[in-house]
Amino acid sequence: MPALLELLKDGAFHSGEKLGEALGISRAAVWKQLQQLESQLGLTIHKVPGKGYCLSQRISLLDPSAIDERFLGLQRIYLSETLDSTNAEALRLISQRKPLPFLVLSEQQTSGRGRRGRTWVSPFGANLYYSLAIQLVQGAQQLEGLSLVIGLAVLRTIEEAGVTNAGLKWPNDILVGHKKMAGILLELVGDPADICHVVIGVGINVNMLSSKDEIDRPWTSLLCETGILQDRSQLASRLNHHISHYLGLHRLNGFTTLMDEWRAADLWMGREVRLSSGVGEVAGTSLGIDERGGLRLLVGGAEQVFCGGELSLRLRDDS
Ligand code: BTN
Repeated sequence: MPALLELLKDGAFHSGEKLGEALGISRAAVWKQLQQLESQLGLTIHKVPGKGYCLSQRISLLDPSAIDERFLGLQRIYLSETLDSTNAEALRLISQRKPLPFLVLSEQQTSGRGRRGRTWVSPFGANLYYSLAIQLVQGAQQLEGLSLVIGLAVLRTIEEAGVTNAGLKWPNDILVGHKKMAGILLELVGDPADICHVVIGVGINVNMLSSKDEIDRPWTSLLCETGILQDRSQLASRLNHHISHYLGLHRLNGFTTLMDEWRAADLWMGREVRLSSGVGEVAGTSLGIDERGGLRLLVGGAEQVFCGGELSLRLRDDS
C-alpha cells in the first residue's frame, strides 16, 4: 500500500511539506504521488491552498493481520491492492492447486463480476470484495441451497453492522428496501457429481457514498444506512464467522433446516414478480422458496418451481 495513502486515510488535511517530511521525499515528489493515487486508484483528493491535501472521504484499508481466520480454518488470505476480480483470482489459484480453503480479498476490482454477465462496480478501498474458495465433497448434494445459505450469512453480517431493515431477494441479493447492498456470485470448478471446488464471491457495499462508474440499479451501502464508517477488516472477519456458521449447518443438515430462517427474511414473498432467464420471462406471485431453495411461483393459478443461478427476479410493477 502506498505510504502516502496510509498518511491520508484519516480524511484530514495534510500539508505537502509535512507529507514530504514524513515520507522523506520532496514536495514535488508528493505532488506526483498524489496524482498517481488519483489516476491509478480512482481516489479523489482535495487540494486547498493554505490547508494542504485531503481525501474526499476517510478510508478504511484492509489489514490482513486484523482478519480473523479461525472460523473457516483458512490456509491463507491472499490480499491484493488491485485485481481484475477476486473470483477470477480464486479460480486461478485453484488451478495452481493452492491448499484450500483460502480467501481472496482486494482493495479494488477492475473487472468485478456480477451475476448474469453484469459488472460489479468495485472502487478502491470502498467496499468488500471477498472470494472464499472451498472444496465440496458430494458436490451436487452440497450445492443445493448453498447460495441461499451464503445470503443468510451476508445478511447477518450486515445486520450486525447496524442495518436493521435489510432482507433477501431470491436467490441471493441483499436489499434494503428496493436498494441493493450486497450480491453473491458462486462459481464452480470440477465435477458437481463428485469432488468440486466452489468460489463463493461476495460483494458488500460498505463505505461507498457515491460512484464514479454508473451502477445500473438502485444501491445503498452500510455507510449510507448507518452513517458509520465501517472497519472493512473487521467486517471480513465477521463474514468469515457467519459463513463458517451457516456452512457448518448446511453441511450437517442440508438446506431444509435453514428454509424457515430464509423465509423470514424473504422481502418479496406474496409480491407480484417477473422472473427472467436468458430466453424468456414468467410473471406470477411469489410463494417464497421450497425445501431445496427453488422459487415457488403462482402462475395462472398453478404453482411452478424455478431453480438456477442465471434467473433474475423483478417486481412486476418495477419498470
Ligand atoms: C451480483 O450480481 O449480485 C453478484 C455480485 C458479486 C460480486 C462479488 S465482489 C467479489 C467477487 N468477485 C467478483 O468478481 N464478483 C464477486
